[in-house]
Amino acid sequence: MQFEVFTLLPEVFPSYLETSILKRARERGLIHVNVHNIRDYTHDKHHTTDDTPYGGGGGMVMKPEPVFEAIESVMGTKTQQTPPEPVSNIPIILLTPQGRVFKQSIAQELSAHPRIALLCGRYEGIDERIREHLVTDEISIGDYVLTGGELPALILIDAVARLLPDVLGDPTGAEDDSHAMGLLEYPHYTRPPEFRGWKAPEVLLSGDHGKIDKWRRQQALERTFRKRPDMLETAGLTKEDKKIVEHLKSNVKNLRP
Ligand code: ADE
Repeated sequence: MQFEVFTLLPEVFPSYLETSILKRARERGLIHVNVHNIRDYTHDKHHTTDDTPYGGGGGMVMKPEPVFEAIESVMGTKTQQTPPEPVSNIPIILLTPQGRVFKQSIAQELSAHPRIALLCGRYEGIDERIREHLVTDEISIGDYVLTGGELPALILIDAVARLLPDVLGDPTGAEDDSHAMGLLEYPHYTRPPEFRGWKAPEVLLSGDHGKIDKWRRQQALERTFRKRPDMLETAGLTKEDKKIVEHLKSNVKNLRP
């Protein structure tokens, strides 16, 4: 899968992309991340990428020309028709606090595309014509405001990349993730079996995979019930799960906070 990142701060990206799982995925050709500096698509002496807002007010606004030129020349698209027509089905995603809020199902949706473009906003905002005539989707990573879209772009790349075949060492690695099944993930333990007097649950050492699966499902339901009860409304629960949830509801006082 190919990620085309458009930013005014390309230097932000290498340190994270050259580490751990994403580094390995890039070396193995499973993902390609091309970072494009929007400033390279300016033509004036000062390489201007922002200007004061029409109508006054504070802050600076990202100019449309370099952003259009950068994305059109890299993506090979021409988007300036009126009315705008989608010229390709490659998503051109603006990272902005005004976008739809990123979650696992959006990561899954994006992982089905062979190529996506990510536009990182900076300054106070971007010229609205970029949003109207160039961008095809807007994503926020949460209801708070950062200084730019670079960290959100890295978060999106990370969440999408780890869903792609062979990126994680364990081929089932992403299946049990928190959120992947609509529930928070069950707790994990590793050696030693006892640490400072705290024992790993007996069942995990039993070798009985039927029992282990059942315990993990119960734990996932219990955690979700305790920490994110809202998720239970939309999780695909079996009859057995629903019984467990009913039981949790009636024993709410006995649960560990
Ligand atoms: N840029 C600034 N804040 C952001 C957020 N919360 N999500 C995505 N992009 C942003």
